[in-house]
Amino acid sequence: MACLRARYAGPPSLWPAPAIDPGITWTEWARVPPVDAPPSSWMAANAGRAELASDIRKPEIVALGQMLFFDGHLSRKGQVSCASCHMPQRAFTDGRPLAVGEDRLMGRRRSPSLLAAPFAPRLFWDGRAGTLKAQVLGPVQDSREMNHDLGSAIARLQGLPPYPAQFLKAFGPAMRDVASASGSASTSGRDAVDSDRLARALAAYVATLRPQTSRFDAFLNGERNALNDTELRGMHLFRTQARCMNCHSGALLTDHQFHNIGLSFYGRRNQDLGRFEITRDPADLGKFRTPSLRNVSQAGPWMHNGLFADLKGLLRMYNAGMGREAAPADPPDPYAPRKSEHIRPLDLSADDIDALLAFMKVL
Ligand code: HEC
Ligand code: HEC
Repeated sequence: MACLRARYAGPPSLWPAPAIDPGITWTEWARVPPVDAPPSSWMAANAGRAELASDIRKPEIVALGQMLFFDGHLSRKGQVSCASCHMPQRAFTDGRPLAVGEDRLMGRRRSPSLLAAPFAPRLFWDGRAGTLKAQVLGPVQDSREMNHDLGSAIARLQGLPPYPAQFLKAFGPAMRDVASASGSASTSGRDAVDSDRLARALAAYVATLRPQTSRFDAFLNGERNALNDTELRGMHLFRTQARCMNCHSGALLTDHQFHNIGLSFYGRRNQDLGRFEITRDPADLGKFRTPSLRNVSQAGPWMHNGLFADLKGLLRMYNAGMGREAAPADPPDPYAPRKSEHIRPLDLSADDIDALLAFMKVL
């Protein structure tokens, strides 16, 4: 143990190399970039980031987005806010296997943690949205989420103090008011509320979300006793024999890529083909976006379908190399999802799994 601690005593660049398969691009773990210093890759990640990068520096816009995020008025009957499904104390998930929206209608997938969303080049489990701004109005209109039409949602906010004044403060008068310079409409702020600004405010708030810092950050910062022996052994296993670094790398412990780890339930009632449903590329069958593992112990039940209610069961499945996807067909079925070659049986002992579990709990 003393030997293992010594090997991880220096900065991550001097740590033992993780077990990474050929062809995988990975980045070392790091502290999560703070809101006021987004990394350059953040800007490159997708279009529309210039506006967002400037919006997140305006406290009035972020505060407005936060107010909206927690407000049930965005849903048709006022029952559901963004925070009903993305609860801050649960790493912005909701504790349910599948999301439940207005009138208790059940969604198809689990509400994901939002902690990777500020940095992800593509959003949703299947990557169907390219920017936060494009994403955030989706739930307002989704019949299984907030079930509202955008026009009525905007009209409601226009008549609901303090929103008109807050939109005015955050974004200034609407363009047409400036043009006409009539003055009366612009001071009421009614016209300052529109769907583009609603999306900008919500996106700005979501882009400021960061994981709760933990002893893992302290360890990354060079406090070599921040992890106990079991946790440190779990961390070592995560990076080596358990092969998790192939996909859960980088500051957020995700590669932001799509993989099929074998949970598509192909041919069964709860089949979900993930990324394929967007791209129609057979190579994407059964692929889902790698979730961040920051604050992961608060984010259960886990996976896109909430399949695992406890983390130990999930680790046992990884240890077994996940399940068999489907019996091979004769003739071969071109639409049968193929599990990632990076998912393999791991030969971990019960003690190893306990150590991995201890490590997951500090993240
Ligand atoms: C009824 C529950 C529910 C409500 C209400 C809800 N969401 Fe979600 N949210 C989900 C689910 C489920 C997904 C994943 C859907 C998928 O991937 O197909 C999701 C995905 C997201 C994502 C993508 C995260 C990522 O990393 O891919 C963001 C961002 C998000 N929601 C923000 C919001 C905002 C902002 C609101 C309020 C306007 C909101 N959500 C309301 C359930 C909900
Ligand atoms: C081939 C890439 C890959 C490897 C290797 C991998 N994962 Fe994952 N992991 C994923 C993907 C993709 C998902 C989401 C799959 C889904 O929902 O269907 C996921 C989901 C998870 C989740 C659930 C997170 C959540 O919020 O639902 C946990 C926990 C997890 N992985 C831990 C691990 C551990 C521990 C290892 C090593 C034993 C590991 N992963 C190895 C890609 C990978």
